[in-house]
Amino acid sequence: MKEQLAKIRSEALAAFASAPDSAALDALRVQYLGKKGELTGVLKMMGKLSAEERPAMGQLANEVRAALETAIEETSAKLAEAALEQQLKDEAVDVTIPGTEVKMGHKHPMYIALDEIKDIFVGMGFTVLDGPEVELAEYNFDRLNAEEGHPSRDWSDTFYFDEDSRVMLRSQTSPMQVRAMDTMELPIRIVAPGRVYRKDEVDATHSPMFHQVEGMVIDKGVTMADLKGTLNTVVEQLYGAGTKTRFRPHHFPFTEPSCEMDVQCHKCGGVGCPTCKGEGWIELLGAGMIHPKVLQMAGINTEIYSGWAFGIGLERTAMRRFKIADLRLIFENDIRFLEQF
Ligand code: PHE
Repeated sequence: MKEQLAKIRSEALAAFASAPDSAALDALRVQYLGKKGELTGVLKMMGKLSAEERPAMGQLANEVRAALETAIEETSAKLAEAALEQQLKDEAVDVTIPGTEVKMGHKHPMYIALDEIKDIFVGMGFTVLDGPEVELAEYNFDRLNAEEGHPSRDWSDTFYFDEDSRVMLRSQTSPMQVRAMDTMELPIRIVAPGRVYRKDEVDATHSPMFHQVEGMVIDKGVTMADLKGTLNTVVEQLYGAGTKTRFRPHHFPFTEPSCEMDVQCHKCGGVGCPTCKGEGWIELLGAGMIHPKVLQMAGINTEIYSGWAFGIGLERTAMRRFKIADLRLIFENDIRFLEQF
Protein backbone atom coordinates (compact mmCIF):
# COMPACT_ATOMS: atom_id res chain seq x y z
CA MET A 1 0.00 0.00 0.00
CA LYS A 2 2.91 2.22 0.79
CA GLU A 3 4.28 1.70 -2.71
CA GLN A 4 0.85 2.34 -4.17
CA LEU A 5 0.59 5.68 -2.35
CA ALA A 6 4.09 6.67 -3.47
CA LYS A 7 3.25 5.75 -7.05
CA ILE A 8 0.05 7.79 -6.98
CA ARG A 9 1.93 10.72 -5.52
CA SER A 10 4.68 10.76 -8.13
CA GLU A 11 2.35 10.07 -11.06
CA ALA A 12 -0.14 12.69 -9.94
CA LEU A 13 2.48 15.39 -9.38
CA ALA A 14 3.99 14.71 -12.81
CA ALA A 15 0.55 14.82 -14.44
CA PHE A 16 -0.39 18.09 -12.68
CA ALA A 17 2.87 19.71 -13.70
CA SER A 18 2.21 19.00 -17.39
CA ALA A 19 -1.50 19.99 -17.40
CA PRO A 20 -1.92 22.39 -20.36
CA ASP A 21 -4.84 24.38 -18.89
CA SER A 22 -7.15 24.61 -15.88
CA ALA A 23 -9.78 22.34 -17.49
CA ALA A 24 -7.21 19.58 -17.85
CA LEU A 25 -6.03 20.18 -14.27
CA ASP A 26 -9.59 19.90 -13.02
CA ALA A 27 -9.99 16.57 -14.80
CA LEU A 28 -6.79 15.33 -13.12
CA ARG A 29 -8.09 16.46 -9.73
CA VAL A 30 -11.18 14.31 -10.24
CA GLN A 31 -9.04 11.46 -11.49
CA TYR A 32 -6.88 11.39 -8.33
CA LEU A 33 -8.88 13.00 -5.53
CA GLY A 34 -12.50 12.55 -6.65
CA LYS A 35 -15.02 10.19 -5.03
CA LYS A 36 -14.01 7.44 -7.42
CA GLY A 37 -10.47 8.73 -7.66
CA GLU A 38 -7.28 6.73 -7.33
CA LEU A 39 -6.28 8.03 -3.90
CA THR A 40 -9.79 7.56 -2.58
CA GLY A 41 -9.67 4.00 -3.86
CA VAL A 42 -6.55 3.31 -1.79
CA LEU A 43 -8.06 4.95 1.31
CA LYS A 44 -11.09 2.69 1.02
CA MET A 45 -8.77 -0.29 1.47
CA MET A 46 -7.54 1.05 4.84
CA GLY A 47 -10.14 -1.08 6.58
CA LYS A 48 -8.36 -4.17 5.51
CA LEU A 49 -5.19 -3.16 7.32
CA SER A 50 -4.18 -4.34 10.76
CA ALA A 51 -4.66 -1.99 13.71
CA GLU A 52 -0.85 -1.53 14.01
CA GLU A 53 -0.39 -0.63 10.37
CA ARG A 54 -3.36 1.67 10.11
CA PRO A 55 -2.13 4.89 11.88
CA ALA A 56 1.13 5.10 9.91
CA MET A 57 -0.65 4.33 6.62
CA GLY A 58 -3.36 6.84 7.48
CA GLN A 59 -0.80 9.52 8.12
CA LEU A 60 1.00 8.75 4.87
CA ALA A 61 -2.26 8.84 2.93
CA ASN A 62 -3.12 12.22 4.45
CA GLU A 63 0.31 13.53 3.56
CA VAL A 64 -0.14 12.41 -0.03
CA ARG A 65 -3.59 14.00 -0.18
CA ALA A 66 -2.22 17.28 1.22
CA ALA A 67 0.70 17.22 -1.23
CA LEU A 68 -1.65 16.68 -4.16
CA GLU A 69 -3.99 19.45 -3.03
CA THR A 70 -1.12 21.90 -2.61
CA ALA A 71 0.27 20.97 -6.02
CA ILE A 72 -3.15 21.48 -7.61
CA GLU A 73 -3.51 24.88 -5.96
CA GLU A 74 -0.09 26.02 -7.11
CA THR A 75 -0.51 24.72 -10.64
CA SER A 76 -3.96 26.27 -10.87
CA ALA A 77 -2.60 29.70 -9.91
CA LYS A 78 0.23 29.34 -12.45
CA LEU A 79 -2.20 28.34 -15.22
CA ALA A 80 -4.54 31.27 -14.46
CA GLU A 81 -1.63 33.68 -14.60
CA ALA A 82 -0.42 32.21 -17.89
CA ALA A 83 -3.96 32.43 -19.33
CA LEU A 84 -4.24 36.09 -18.34
CA GLU A 85 -0.86 36.84 -19.86
CA GLN A 86 -1.87 35.15 -23.10
CA GLN A 87 -5.14 37.11 -23.16
CA LEU A 88 -3.32 40.39 -22.64
CA LYS A 89 -0.97 39.48 -25.47
CA ASP A 90 -3.84 38.51 -27.80
CA GLU A 91 -5.89 41.60 -27.12
CA ALA A 92 -3.05 44.09 -27.08
CA VAL A 93 -3.38 47.13 -29.39
CA ASP A 94 -0.15 48.25 -30.94
CA VAL A 95 -0.42 52.02 -30.73
CA THR A 96 2.80 52.45 -32.69
CA ILE A 97 1.33 51.04 -35.94
CA PRO A 98 0.61 53.97 -38.32
CA GLY A 99 -3.16 54.65 -38.56
CA THR A 100 -5.29 54.56 -41.70
CA GLU A 101 -5.27 58.09 -43.03
CA VAL A 102 -8.71 59.65 -43.59
CA LYS A 103 -8.61 62.25 -46.35
CA MET A 104 -10.43 65.39 -45.28
CA GLY A 105 -12.11 67.39 -48.00
CA HIS A 106 -12.77 71.11 -47.87
CA LYS A 107 -15.02 73.72 -49.38
CA HIS A 108 -14.98 74.26 -53.15
CA PRO A 109 -13.28 77.59 -54.01
CA MET A 110 -16.50 78.93 -55.48
CA TYR A 111 -18.38 78.19 -52.26
CA ILE A 112 -15.58 79.82 -50.26
CA ALA A 113 -16.24 82.96 -52.33
CA LEU A 114 -20.02 82.55 -51.93
CA ASP A 115 -19.76 82.20 -48.16
CA GLU A 116 -17.64 85.35 -48.00
CA ILE A 117 -20.27 87.23 -50.01
CA LYS A 118 -23.09 85.89 -47.83
CA ASP A 119 -21.19 86.87 -44.65
CA ILE A 120 -20.71 90.42 -45.90
CA PHE A 121 -24.39 90.86 -46.75
CA VAL A 122 -25.70 89.13 -43.63
CA GLY A 123 -23.46 91.55 -41.69
CA MET A 124 -25.33 94.40 -43.39
CA GLY A 125 -28.72 93.00 -42.41
CA PHE A 126 -29.63 91.09 -45.57
CA THR A 127 -31.60 87.83 -45.53
CA VAL A 128 -30.34 84.92 -47.66
CA LEU A 129 -33.03 83.33 -49.88
CA ASP A 130 -33.08 80.11 -51.89
CA GLY A 131 -35.30 79.67 -54.96
CA PRO A 132 -36.32 77.14 -57.61
CA GLU A 133 -34.07 76.42 -60.58
CA VAL A 134 -37.08 75.28 -62.63
CA GLU A 135 -38.87 78.60 -63.01
CA LEU A 136 -41.99 80.02 -64.63
CA ALA A 137 -41.89 82.61 -67.43
CA GLU A 138 -44.09 84.69 -65.15
CA TYR A 139 -41.21 85.19 -62.69
CA ASN A 140 -38.21 84.82 -64.99
CA PHE A 141 -39.53 87.29 -67.62
CA ASP A 142 -43.11 88.70 -67.43
CA ARG A 143 -42.96 90.23 -63.96
CA LEU A 144 -39.42 91.45 -64.69
CA ASN A 145 -40.72 93.61 -67.52
CA ALA A 146 -39.15 91.41 -70.23
CA GLU A 147 -42.09 91.27 -72.61
CA GLU A 148 -42.88 88.66 -75.26
CA GLY A 149 -40.31 89.03 -78.02
CA HIS A 150 -37.53 90.18 -75.71
CA PRO A 151 -34.28 88.63 -77.03
CA SER A 152 -33.52 86.85 -73.69
CA ARG A 153 -36.77 84.84 -74.14
CA ASP A 154 -35.46 83.31 -77.37
CA TRP A 155 -35.29 79.51 -77.66
CA SER A 156 -31.66 79.87 -78.71
CA ASP A 157 -30.80 81.32 -75.29
CA THR A 158 -33.05 79.60 -72.75
CA PHE A 159 -33.76 75.95 -71.85
CA TYR A 160 -37.56 75.49 -72.02
CA PHE A 161 -39.56 72.49 -70.84
CA ASP A 162 -42.74 73.22 -72.83
CA GLU A 163 -43.82 74.34 -76.33
CA ASP A 164 -45.40 77.51 -74.97
CA SER A 165 -42.17 78.74 -73.33
CA ARG A 166 -43.82 79.05 -69.91
CA VAL A 167 -41.59 76.68 -67.90
CA MET A 168 -37.80 76.79 -68.05
CA LEU A 169 -34.48 76.46 -66.28
CA ARG A 170 -34.12 79.98 -64.90
CA SER A 171 -31.73 82.09 -66.95
CA GLN A 172 -30.98 84.45 -64.06
CA THR A 173 -31.56 84.75 -60.30
CA SER A 174 -33.64 87.92 -60.84
CA PRO A 175 -36.99 86.03 -60.52
CA MET A 176 -36.08 85.92 -56.82
CA GLN A 177 -36.68 89.68 -56.75
CA VAL A 178 -40.31 89.07 -57.66
CA ARG A 179 -40.68 86.08 -55.33
CA ALA A 180 -39.33 88.20 -52.45
CA MET A 181 -41.68 91.09 -53.28
CA ASP A 182 -44.62 88.64 -53.33
CA THR A 183 -43.82 86.99 -50.01
CA MET A 184 -41.96 89.45 -47.79
CA GLU A 185 -42.94 92.52 -45.81
CA LEU A 186 -41.37 95.88 -46.73
CA PRO A 187 -38.65 96.99 -46.28
CA ILE A 188 -36.80 94.14 -48.02
CA ARG A 189 -33.09 93.37 -48.03
CA ILE A 190 -32.21 90.03 -49.62
CA VAL A 191 -29.47 88.11 -51.38
CA ALA A 192 -30.39 84.98 -53.36
CA PRO A 193 -27.53 82.80 -54.63
CA GLY A 194 -28.05 79.86 -56.99
CA ARG A 195 -27.57 78.11 -60.30
CA VAL A 196 -28.74 79.61 -63.58
CA TYR A 197 -28.80 78.15 -67.10
CA ARG A 198 -28.20 79.53 -70.60
CA LYS A 199 -27.53 77.92 -73.96
CA ASP A 200 -23.87 78.95 -74.04
CA GLU A 201 -20.99 76.94 -75.49
CA VAL A 202 -18.33 75.99 -72.94
CA ASP A 203 -15.15 78.06 -73.14
CA ALA A 204 -12.72 79.80 -70.75
CA THR A 205 -15.40 82.28 -69.63
CA HIS A 206 -18.73 80.53 -70.44
CA SER A 207 -20.70 77.52 -69.22
CA PRO A 208 -24.36 76.53 -69.84
CA MET A 209 -24.73 76.30 -66.04
CA PHE A 210 -23.27 78.94 -63.79
CA HIS A 211 -24.04 80.73 -60.53
CA GLN A 212 -25.34 84.17 -59.71
CA VAL A 213 -26.02 86.01 -56.50
CA GLU A 214 -29.03 88.28 -56.73
CA GLY A 215 -29.26 91.22 -54.34
CA MET A 216 -32.17 93.56 -53.72
CA VAL A 217 -33.16 96.37 -51.39
CA ILE A 218 -36.57 98.06 -51.30
CA ASP A 219 -37.23 100.78 -48.77
CA LYS A 220 -38.29 104.42 -48.50
CA GLY A 221 -35.92 106.88 -50.17
CA VAL A 222 -33.48 104.29 -51.58
CA THR A 223 -31.22 105.79 -54.28
CA MET A 224 -28.45 104.87 -56.72
CA ALA A 225 -26.00 106.29 -54.17
CA ASP A 226 -27.01 103.50 -51.74
CA LEU A 227 -26.38 100.95 -54.49
CA LYS A 228 -22.92 102.32 -55.28
CA GLY A 229 -21.99 102.67 -51.62
CA THR A 230 -23.09 99.12 -50.81
CA LEU A 231 -21.34 97.54 -53.79
CA ASN A 232 -18.11 99.48 -53.17
CA THR A 233 -18.11 98.28 -49.56
CA VAL A 234 -18.62 94.69 -50.66
CA VAL A 235 -15.83 94.89 -53.24
CA GLU A 236 -13.39 96.34 -50.70
CA GLN A 237 -14.22 93.56 -48.23
CA LEU A 238 -13.82 90.90 -50.92
CA TYR A 239 -10.73 92.20 -52.67
CA GLY A 240 -9.11 94.55 -50.19
CA ALA A 241 -9.34 98.23 -49.23
CA GLY A 242 -8.77 100.64 -52.08
CA THR A 243 -9.99 98.26 -54.82
CA LYS A 244 -11.35 100.55 -57.54
CA THR A 245 -14.72 100.08 -59.24
CA ARG A 246 -16.36 101.77 -62.19
CA PHE A 247 -20.02 101.95 -63.17
CA ARG A 248 -20.99 101.94 -66.87
CA PRO A 249 -24.47 102.63 -68.23
CA HIS A 250 -26.23 99.47 -69.45
CA HIS A 251 -29.70 98.15 -70.14
CA PHE A 252 -31.83 95.60 -68.29
CA PRO A 253 -35.63 95.48 -68.72
CA PHE A 254 -36.24 95.39 -64.95
CA THR A 255 -33.95 98.25 -63.85
CA GLU A 256 -33.95 101.94 -64.80
CA PRO A 257 -31.37 103.36 -64.85
CA SER A 258 -29.19 100.27 -65.30
CA CYS A 259 -25.46 99.82 -65.07
CA GLU A 260 -22.67 97.32 -65.08
CA MET A 261 -19.95 97.47 -62.47
CA ASP A 262 -16.32 96.73 -63.33
CA VAL A 263 -13.49 96.10 -60.87
CA GLN A 264 -9.96 97.20 -61.64
CA CYS A 265 -7.94 94.25 -62.96
CA HIS A 266 -6.17 92.37 -60.16
CA LYS A 267 -3.39 91.20 -62.48
CA CYS A 268 -2.21 94.49 -64.00
CA GLY A 269 -3.74 97.06 -61.66
CA GLY A 270 -5.57 98.78 -64.51
CA VAL A 271 -2.79 99.09 -67.10
CA GLY A 272 -4.19 96.39 -69.39
CA CYS A 273 -3.12 92.75 -69.71
CA PRO A 274 -4.37 89.40 -71.14
CA THR A 275 -6.54 88.69 -68.08
CA CYS A 276 -8.61 91.86 -68.60
CA LYS A 277 -8.19 91.64 -72.39
CA GLY A 278 -6.22 94.90 -72.34
CA GLU A 279 -9.08 96.83 -70.73
CA GLY A 280 -7.65 97.32 -67.25
CA TRP A 281 -11.13 96.47 -65.85
CA ILE A 282 -13.11 93.28 -65.35
CA GLU A 283 -16.90 93.20 -65.48
CA LEU A 284 -18.35 91.81 -62.24
CA LEU A 285 -22.08 92.48 -62.09
CA GLY A 286 -25.19 94.07 -63.52
CA ALA A 287 -27.31 96.39 -61.40
CA GLY A 288 -29.72 99.28 -61.36
CA MET A 289 -32.71 100.97 -59.75
CA ILE A 290 -35.70 98.62 -59.88
CA HIS A 291 -38.02 99.68 -62.70
CA PRO A 292 -41.22 101.27 -61.30
CA LYS A 293 -43.27 98.87 -63.49
CA VAL A 294 -41.71 95.88 -61.70
CA LEU A 295 -42.51 97.35 -58.27
CA GLN A 296 -46.06 98.20 -59.36
CA MET A 297 -46.69 94.69 -60.74
CA ALA A 298 -45.89 93.47 -57.21
CA GLY A 299 -48.35 95.98 -55.74
CA ILE A 300 -45.70 98.25 -54.24
CA ASN A 301 -46.45 101.98 -54.07
CA THR A 302 -43.67 103.68 -56.05
CA GLU A 303 -44.60 107.09 -54.59
CA ILE A 304 -43.27 105.84 -51.27
CA TYR A 305 -40.88 103.02 -52.06
CA SER A 306 -37.91 102.63 -54.34
CA GLY A 307 -35.24 99.97 -54.61
CA TRP A 308 -32.15 98.67 -56.29
CA ALA A 309 -30.97 95.27 -57.38
CA PHE A 310 -27.83 93.62 -58.66
CA GLY A 311 -26.77 90.26 -60.05
CA ILE A 312 -23.19 89.04 -59.48
CA GLY A 313 -21.62 86.26 -61.52
CA LEU A 314 -20.25 83.97 -58.81
CA GLU A 315 -17.71 82.05 -60.94
CA ARG A 316 -16.24 85.32 -62.07
CA THR A 317 -16.03 86.55 -58.48
CA ALA A 318 -14.24 83.35 -57.40
CA MET A 319 -11.91 83.52 -60.42
CA ARG A 320 -10.91 87.03 -59.42
CA ARG A 321 -10.71 86.18 -55.75
CA PHE A 322 -8.38 83.19 -56.32
CA LYS A 323 -6.75 84.37 -59.56
CA ILE A 324 -8.14 81.43 -61.60
CA ALA A 325 -7.58 81.88 -65.33
CA ASP A 326 -10.11 79.40 -66.81
CA LEU A 327 -13.78 78.96 -65.81
CA ARG A 328 -13.70 75.27 -66.75
CA LEU A 329 -11.36 74.51 -63.84
CA ILE A 330 -14.18 75.40 -61.45
CA PHE A 331 -16.44 72.63 -62.80
CA GLU A 332 -13.98 69.93 -63.82
CA ASN A 333 -13.42 68.85 -60.20
CA ASP A 334 -9.81 67.89 -60.81
CA ILE A 335 -8.57 67.11 -57.32
CA ARG A 336 -5.11 68.56 -58.10
CA PHE A 337 -6.80 71.90 -58.78
CA LEU A 338 -9.20 71.82 -55.86
CA GLU A 339 -6.54 70.85 -53.31
CA GLN A 340 -4.87 74.23 -53.79
CA PHE A 341 -7.55 76.17 -51.92
N1 PHE B 1 -30.18 89.39 -64.12
C1 PHE B 1 -29.17 90.18 -64.77
C2 PHE B 1 -28.31 89.26 -65.63
O1 PHE B 1 -28.40 88.07 -65.48
C3 PHE B 1 -28.30 90.90 -63.76
C4 PHE B 1 -29.03 91.96 -63.01
C5 PHE B 1 -29.61 91.67 -61.79
C6 PHE B 1 -29.13 93.26 -63.48
C7 PHE B 1 -30.27 92.64 -61.07
C8 PHE B 1 -29.78 94.24 -62.78
C9 PHE B 1 -30.35 93.94 -61.57
O2 PHE B 1 -27.52 89.69 -66.44
